[in-house]
Amino acid sequence: MQSETPGEISEAQIAVHWKEEQFIDPPARFIAQANMADQGIYERFSEKNFPECFREYADLLSWDRYWHTTLDSSNPPFWKWFVGGKLNVSYNCVDRNLPKYRNKAAIIWVPEPEEEQDVIVTYQELYNKVNEFAIALSEFAGLKKGDRVTFHLPMIPALPISMLAAARLGIIHNQVFGGFSAKACAERMEDSKSHVLVTCDGYYRNGQLLDKKADADATVEEAEKHGIIVKKVLVWRRLPGKYISKSKMVEGRDHFVDELLDKVRGRKVSPLSMDAEDPLFLMYTSGSTGRPKGCQHRTGGYLAYVAGTSKFVLDIHPEDTYWCYADIGWITGHSYIVYGPLSLGATSVMYEGVPMFPDPGRPWRIAERLGVNIFHTAPTTIRMLRKAGPKEAEKYGYHFKSMTTVGEPIEPEVWKWYYEVIGKGEAVITDTYWQTENGGFLCSTLPAILPMKPGSAGPGVPGIYPVIYDEDGKEVKAGLGKAGNICIRNPWPGIMQTIWGSPERFVRQYYSKYCRDEKSKDWRDWPYFAGDGAVQAFDGYFRILGRIDDVIKVAGHRLGTKELENAALTTEGISEAAAIAQNDEMRGHVPIIYASLKPGYSPSKELEQQVISNIAKELGPIAKPHAVYIVQDLPKTRSGKIMRRVLAAIANSEEYGDVTTLANPDIVETIRKMVQEKSQGSNT
Ligand code: PRX
Repeated sequence: MQSETPGEISEAQIAVHWKEEQFIDPPARFIAQANMADQGIYERFSEKNFPECFREYADLLSWDRYWHTTLDSSNPPFWKWFVGGKLNVSYNCVDRNLPKYRNKAAIIWVPEPEEEQDVIVTYQELYNKVNEFAIALSEFAGLKKGDRVTFHLPMIPALPISMLAAARLGIIHNQVFGGFSAKACAERMEDSKSHVLVTCDGYYRNGQLLDKKADADATVEEAEKHGIIVKKVLVWRRLPGKYISKSKMVEGRDHFVDELLDKVRGRKVSPLSMDAEDPLFLMYTSGSTGRPKGCQHRTGGYLAYVAGTSKFVLDIHPEDTYWCYADIGWITGHSYIVYGPLSLGATSVMYEGVPMFPDPGRPWRIAERLGVNIFHTAPTTIRMLRKAGPKEAEKYGYHFKSMTTVGEPIEPEVWKWYYEVIGKGEAVITDTYWQTENGGFLCSTLPAILPMKPGSAGPGVPGIYPVIYDEDGKEVKAGLGKAGNICIRNPWPGIMQTIWGSPERFVRQYYSKYCRDEKSKDWRDWPYFAGDGAVQAFDGYFRILGRIDDVIKVAGHRLGTKELENAALTTEGISEAAAIAQNDEMRGHVPIIYASLKPGYSPSKELEQQVISNIAKELGPIAKPHAVYIVQDLPKTRSGKIMRRVLAAIANSEEYGDVTTLANPDIVETIRKMVQEKSQGSNT
């Protein structure tokens, strides 16, 4: 990101002043059983062995045909991995586990209502259902290799089954987070040119039964406005045979999946042998423009990368009971609830609801009852549980050997609570830094080899060579206490292939900033720009400071400021809007909107409410701003750029610095007073 005005301090340079924490060693008991306790791995994955080192990950998979070229970098930055290789992801995650683990649980689904029974999906049952649904997708919905199918599913077993069924036939799946609005889903259908929607009747969240099929009706309507005719809506019933939605099934368009599966019961379809470079799925995410981008992930490199990192970082063994409390609608769930763990033959726990339902002891009851020994979640969940039930975990007799945190920086205090109270001082913690674009982890410790440091992710994982650059592309050396932009110097198998339909945007977004020579075919000239600020300590550990671009992380969810602003602008009377992130004790950040009005309109509570409800409608309830400030004007540079940094400083009661060079400096103080008065008002 360029700074707003020349000479101004960049976002990445503003370091968070946490003091350096002490190292904590992993327990001997963990090391004794770890998948990777061999220090030699860092040497094997060092630059001199790149890219062939990644064979070690690819060799964890079953290939139909071995590859001839590990990395083809002839067309940077469109890297190709394991070229010439053929494999099928569904085969690797399902079929190949049958001989050893046929009747072992692949997925244990825990419904939110506590009195409801778990659903245990064995590898055999998963195999049956994946085959049957693959047949439904091809024979009934007419989908074939390379077509896109959209899923708008919550955390129910139908979701991994649908993903694996699509993967079986090379149909590219596009799962839209279940909590996103119908409109957001329709936009993703339009971008991916997808004509089949897979959804369900309903699900439980926070004690409420939510109607998902009603969302599907709205999605179809909305998609039509965007020129997409949804030909088929396939509706999984949360419990087969029992329809819990109020929405009517539309004849010819809507079909119950359990009925379709009954018709093909027992039939099998061979997994299609896919090129390693064939796309596996799209995952849309927010960036610095209003349009979400479809991160396109490949078959071979992606699966190799998530299998390798699941084995060596998460330390998953087939006999472990692993629970990642995240949503499969996000990349964490794709990589580390479904593809990584299942490719290793593990038992992956899926929980439908919210962790605090009906009380903050719920996660620990689940862990105790199922014998979960690996736990994985985001700082926002950890903070919530810490606040609501600081001693709750002590009541339950589970034992974790390892725990992971992902998605946001974790404060050392929160980390220590996670370690001491949730982990009972027995479990190692990995703080894994990565992004939707990356497929799998970028920075983390290998838990049996390196000590933990609260608040720091650790060095690059094997085969990832991170570096911090300043705005001019000069390396910021470790230990200087200076922040800069974290980049990855090399390609890796999990990196996305491109942005669906926008290769130029892919190059511009991730590579243009630090590319040394656009004509170069040498990967060393093409560092990957992650868009995060970071500092590196003397010991080589990275501390991630957060996004430097127009992205806000709210409770671990990624939202684009442009998307929020566009949604605010759908409100009648709003002329300009600026979305910024306000610090929040629990959720990390929450969005705040500053908006100015068109002539003839005046500020009112109703207008503020309208902005909030329009944002919820356009993007989904997670995007709801915590406050809307209607102001006379927004502070701008002379060239007309809105000074979001100043607005963020005001919302966070921080110094906003020198604003005298702005086009309208006086407005800053007016806004500050207004925000102060309003927040005092809301505190009384
Ligand atoms: O800012 C970083 C933050 O989350 C962003 C990526 O978000 P998303 O694509 O939704 O993927 C989240 C799950 C992989 C990053 O740019 N982030 C992710 N992990 C960490 C983190 N910040 C600090 N520490 C982490 N461990």
